[in-house]
Amino acid sequence: MKGKRLPRILFVDGPNLNVLGKREPSVYGTESPADIRNAVEEAARKEGAAVTFFQSNHEGEIVERLQRAKGEFDGIVINPAAYTHTSVAIRDALLFAGLPAIEVHLTNPARRESFRKISFVEDVVVGRICGVGGFGYTLALAALLHHLRREGARGRG
Ligand code: DQA
Repeated sequence: MKGKRLPRILFVDGPNLNVLGKREPSVYGTESPADIRNAVEEAARKEGAAVTFFQSNHEGEIVERLQRAKGEFDGIVINPAAYTHTSVAIRDALLFAGLPAIEVHLTNPARRESFRKISFVEDVVVGRICGVGGFGYTLALAALLHHLRREGARGRG
């Protein structure tokens, strides 16, 4: 982060998160993507951050968005959804982007089926926020901004 420019944060959502609120509400809750986006935007206004949202049901589109994020953003909040558990390509694209990232899940995958216990990105992100529903995205923004400020202070010190 240089000068007084607002930190730019990219939010990336993977497959089936476009139907949040209608999708298995007993598991994922009734909050819609717009509800979550509004809460994040309000937090971003208070905290002083510029936020951009991207969702895709297609692995390659997520890879391409992450590639373009290099140089365009200061950090990433990502919920790769089902691709969390399968995608080497998304992991590699995150590494290419080279930006600090927070992994978010609405549910706590550790409490679910065993195939959800594997995350292909968990060791390339700064941290993970799981199991608190849509509020996790607002927490992730705060966590990322805290991380960027700490790194910025370290860089100047
Ligand atoms: C999810 C958890 C994944 O296992 C699942 O495939 C999703 C959503 C979550 O936010 O809890 O689509 O990432």
